[in-house]
Amino acid sequence: MNKHMQTTSMERSVVGKGIAHDSAKKHVAGQAIYIDDMAELPGTLHAALVVSTIAHGIIKSIDATEALAMQGVHLFLTAKDIPGHNDIAPIMSGEPLFTDDKVEHLGQPIGVIAADSIELAIKAAHAVVIDYEELEPVLDVEIAHQRKEYVLPAQELIQGDVEAALKDAAHVFEGRLEIGGQDHFYLETQIAYTIPGEDNDMLVYSSTQHPTEVQHHVAHVLGTLANSVDVKVRRMGGGFGGKESQATIIASAAALISLKTGKPAKLRLKRAVDMTATGKRHDMVSKWRVGVTAEGKILGMDVEYLARAGYSADLTGPVITRAITHTDNAYFVPNARIVGHACKTNTASNTAFRGFGGPQGVITSETIIDQIARELSLNPNDVRAINYYAPDNGELTPYDQQVEQNQLVPVTQTLLASAEWDRRRAEIDAHNAKNPIIRKGLAMMPVKFGISFNLPSLNQAGALVHVYQDGSVHLNHGGTEMGQGLFMKVAQVVAEVFQIDVDRVKITETQTGKVPNTSATAASTGSDLNGMAAFNAASAIKSRMLKVATEHFKADEGSILFKDNEVHAEGQSLTFAELARLSWAQRVSLSEAGHYATPKIHWDAQKLKGRPFFYFTYGAAVAEVAIDTITGESRCLRADILQDCGASLNPAIDLGQIEGAFVQGMGWLTCEELWWDKKGKLRTIGPSTYKIPGSRDVPPEFNVSLLNNASNIEETVFRSKAVGEPPLMLAISVYLAIKDAIGSNKEGSFDLKTPATPENILSSVN
Ligand code: MTE
Ligand code: HPA
Ligand code: MOS
Repeated sequence: MNKHMQTTSMERSVVGKGIAHDSAKKHVAGQAIYIDDMAELPGTLHAALVVSTIAHGIIKSIDATEALAMQGVHLFLTAKDIPGHNDIAPIMSGEPLFTDDKVEHLGQPIGVIAADSIELAIKAAHAVVIDYEELEPVLDVEIAHQRKEYVLPAQELIQGDVEAALKDAAHVFEGRLEIGGQDHFYLETQIAYTIPGEDNDMLVYSSTQHPTEVQHHVAHVLGTLANSVDVKVRRMGGGFGGKESQATIIASAAALISLKTGKPAKLRLKRAVDMTATGKRHDMVSKWRVGVTAEGKILGMDVEYLARAGYSADLTGPVITRAITHTDNAYFVPNARIVGHACKTNTASNTAFRGFGGPQGVITSETIIDQIARELSLNPNDVRAINYYAPDNGELTPYDQQVEQNQLVPVTQTLLASAEWDRRRAEIDAHNAKNPIIRKGLAMMPVKFGISFNLPSLNQAGALVHVYQDGSVHLNHGGTEMGQGLFMKVAQVVAEVFQIDVDRVKITETQTGKVPNTSATAASTGSDLNGMAAFNAASAIKSRMLKVATEHFKADEGSILFKDNEVHAEGQSLTFAELARLSWAQRVSLSEAGHYATPKIHWDAQKLKGRPFFYFTYGAAVAEVAIDTITGESRCLRADILQDCGASLNPAIDLGQIEGAFVQGMGWLTCEELWWDKKGKLRTIGPSTYKIPGSRDVPPEFNVSLLNNASNIEETVFRSKAVGEPPLMLAISVYLAIKDAIGSNKEGSFDLKTPATPENILSSVN
């Protein structure tokens, strides 16, 4: 790399600036165009899914006569109308787009209706008569586990000798935690708009985090090749993992209508259908035995997860892997056995959700620490501190990755000081001594989160950069925008390479025809992967332009400086646009496809050993809560967060991600409760019954900072670190603070299942 291409020492003029999200104003003005805002083409058909009304059974007959007789209803398609493969499984197989024999969850798609309007399509969908032979549903992970009903084999990680460690331990504690699931509740529900072309070509507008997956599945379902399907995504109204795999259902169903009718088709799900038909965060039960010294130092841990996979695998395998590889959280565990079971239940197939199994691992870890402290009457922060990964304690994870650039001590120490822990701890204890009804709680916890997809092959990206003759730049890459600010960050990277203003870089919709074979925008890797691919593309163009400049200025490369939309050498200068035009005139290519593959990672998926993560991010939070011991209500009064973002690409966007993730995590742990009735019908299917945090749930005092001087030691794009998911887990501090409040007059440890709703808090108080 020459000096023009270094990611480190270059003076930064665009990267590292807190520039607003490129669509911020459009979002608030209602001018950002989502798929349902696009002008509809003449003849557009509107679709509705026909879904199962029972959780488990055999389909005896499907009768759409009445539905099809309605004026304005065009057609009804089921499994037998699929010309290609009826399978949308993202990793495994046997996950049908439309089921035609057995029904495995309530809300499972059976077919799709197309009509002149959405209202009519929905009405017609309800008029389809399906006759079932009902079977008993399995709705509980413990029952599935007893019956050995799994969607995948168990995953097991072994380190050292856990039985020997437990035998030698001064104390062994056992525990069990029920961890709730979570609906994505993206503001824009799942949607696709498909436009048929010549020769069975299909243009697909999909609200998806994974355009390539949508492309592949639409092609499979239609029986065409990937090169017949072009998928476009300008933005999503939120994804949060829910559009990583399951957008394929919606896009494939719409494409099928377009194929059969030759007309554009739009399928968008009403909130209630979205919530019943698609998967969520895996609720899990974790169980453990932990062996510790008299001082509370962990010697060994035996942990088992029962994850609600739902009826099929979807992404459950890698979700469990991430739970297993985050059960250590910040703590050195010399001996471990960590097992994850993918329990098969008659509920929607659970999927990716911000943190991707990490939250379930980290809350288990932190609950174990909490239990050790309570049982031994120790300060929980002291128990944390003696167990942190540290050079004199141990820095090898149970999966054999070395913990590097370990920021646990600086992050937690700095935060405890800035949050004024000691003073507030004393005040809260004094408050609780006088106030038996409204009690307060305080807790601190750290998060260490591994960055990379835990499947090495997914850690790659592509970008396409063009420089036009007026010096403006067209930027395209494989990442998708779901509100997280990826497009601005990658535009900043390109502007930085060329040393031009960021508004000269045109942000464009993701498109499989421009950048192929992409990974999902997921695992928080969007800017790491696509930022680096765009960096590589822009740098290649820049080095060609540099050569043109050296000849023009008759100067050597080292003396040429790209700065402020200009190019200078030895007292001479050209505008960036003039150099672009000069390059064109000399027949030099101003376009480049860049690629990036994360180095250093490897993974043995059988043994669960290797280096799955390129690096770790670190963060910590202190939360203060109050609980009402009569009603069970809780509030977070104050939260302090310190998060490691490396050398942040955009601190304004990163702060927004941290705040949003924390509040979403609070929702998962305090108010968002999924509730199924005995027949397997989800009864929390909209905002009236499923409570997501509102603006008044944001902690009234909310101090968020980024760790200073924290350049990534790994060569990531401008030494930044990922931010999208890790801070969600910092909300576990709120859960622990609620436990602190409940436990203020209790001896020993006690259980609090999540979400810590008023009901669950009351049952722990009493
Ligand atoms: N932020 C917003 N506003 N909307 C989202 O849907 N998804 C989260 C996170 N932040 C999400 C979000 C999830 S699950 C991931 S994996 C990352 O963003 C993905 O984007 P990134 O890799 O560019 O951070
Ligand atoms: N995160 C999100 N999606 C994934 C991952 C992950 O770690 N691994 C495979 N798909
Ligand atoms: Mo995020 S759960 O990896 O889409």
